[in-house]
Amino acid sequence: MSKKTIVCVVGARPNFMKIAPIIKELSKFQDQVSSYLVHTGQHYDQAMKAAFFQQLGIPEPDIDLEVGSGSHCEQTANIMLRFEPVLDKVKPCAVLVVGDVNSTIACSLVAVKKRIPVIHVEAGLRSRDREMPEEINRVLTDQISDSLFITERSAQENLMDEGIDISRIHFAGNVMIDTLLDNLKLAIPFAETLKDYEKAHNIPKEGYGLLTMHRPSNVDDPQVLQSLLESIVAISEKLPIIFPIHPRTRSRIEQEDLLDLISSGDIICLPPVGYLQMLGLMKSAKMVLTDSGGLQEETTSLGIPCVTLRENTERPITIEEGTNTIVGTDREKIKACVDDILATGGKSGRIPEYWDGKAAGRIVAEIKKIYL
Ligand code: UD1
Repeated sequence: MSKKTIVCVVGARPNFMKIAPIIKELSKFQDQVSSYLVHTGQHYDQAMKAAFFQQLGIPEPDIDLEVGSGSHCEQTANIMLRFEPVLDKVKPCAVLVVGDVNSTIACSLVAVKKRIPVIHVEAGLRSRDREMPEEINRVLTDQISDSLFITERSAQENLMDEGIDISRIHFAGNVMIDTLLDNLKLAIPFAETLKDYEKAHNIPKEGYGLLTMHRPSNVDDPQVLQSLLESIVAISEKLPIIFPIHPRTRSRIEQEDLLDLISSGDIICLPPVGYLQMLGLMKSAKMVLTDSGGLQEETTSLGIPCVTLRENTERPITIEEGTNTIVGTDREKIKACVDDILATGGKSGRIPEYWDGKAAGRIVAEIKKIYL
C-alpha cells in the first residue's frame, strides 16, 4: 500500500491552534500517511504567526503562499491561484481545512474543483448573520466538503437543514480545546506578560478584565468603535482592562484618533500576544470581553465568564452550557452584564460534550477509515 498525503491548510491566527493537535495525531501514523502543511500567509506578522508555530510545536510549513492582506476578493483569489499548483505537485488523497477564514474557503474551492476530497474541521457553525465574512465562508465550505467534523450537536441540524447528508457529518468535539488542555500547564503567568507595563503593577486583588476586539462590524464603523471604547473606559473604573490589540483594530483606532480616549481609562494596551501569554491572561481574568469565536469557547472550557460584544454567536453551546453571554454593542446591556458578573461571579457553566482534549484522536481515526 503506497503512503498517502493529506494537505493541511492554515492561514490566520485562529487556525494554528486547531491544526496543531491534528498534525500531531496524524504523525502517529507516519507509515500510512504524511501531512503536508500549507500556510497561505493570510496572517504574516511575527506576532500573528511565528509565536504560535513555536509555542504550539507546529512543524514549519512545507510551503508559505505569502498572500498577505488585501480585499476579501483579492486575498481569496490569490490564495486560490497559489494553492492550485501545490495540489498538482503533492497529489494528496484529501485537503483538510479548519475554521471559517478566507483561507478555508479558498483552498476548499480549489480542491473540490480538482476532485480532491475536502475535510472540514469545525463544520456546521452558523451565526445566521450573512454580514459576517466568516458566515459566507462557513456555508460555502460546508457545501463542498466531503467529511464534516462538528464541535457541537447543533451543527448537525444546521448542516442537515442545508441538505447535507448525515453520512458526511461526524461529531468529534473541539480541537481548539485539545490545544487548550494540552497547554494549560505551560500558560505564561499574566504578571510575566505585563512586567514591562507600569500600570500593571497596580492591578488590585479583585483582578482585571481581558478585552479583545477585531470584527469588522465592531471596529470598521467609527461610531460603533468609539461607543464600545467608551463602554470599556467606563468599565475600567471598576475593573482594570488588559487589551491586546489586533493589527486591524490598532489601525482603526489610530485612524479615528481614539488613542487618547483609551488612555483616559485604566486600560493596558498590548501588541497581539502569543498563545501561551493569552492563555495566562485568560486563566487569571475576572471576565473576558470579546468578539472572538475562539475566546467564547476557551472561556467556557476554563469556566471564566465571557461577555460577547456581538449580536449573535455561531457557537450557541457556549451560551446554553457555558459561561458566555451575548450583549452586542449596546452600552446599557454591556454595563448590566459586567455589573452582574462583578456582583455574582457570573454563569458557572459546564464543559460541553466531547470538549475533552480528545477531538483530534476521533477525527484522525475517522480519516483513516475513510481515506487511507
Ligand atoms: C481574520 C479572519 C477572522 C479571524 C481573524 C483572527 C477572515 C475573513 N477573517 O480576520 O475570522 O477571527 O483573522 O485574527 O478570514 N494584518 C496585519 N498583520 C497580519 C494580518 C493582518 O497587520 O499578520 C492587518 C492588515 O491591515 C489586514 C487586517 O489586519 O488588512 C485584516 O487582516 P485579515 O487577514 O484580512 O482579516 P482579520 O481581521 O485578521
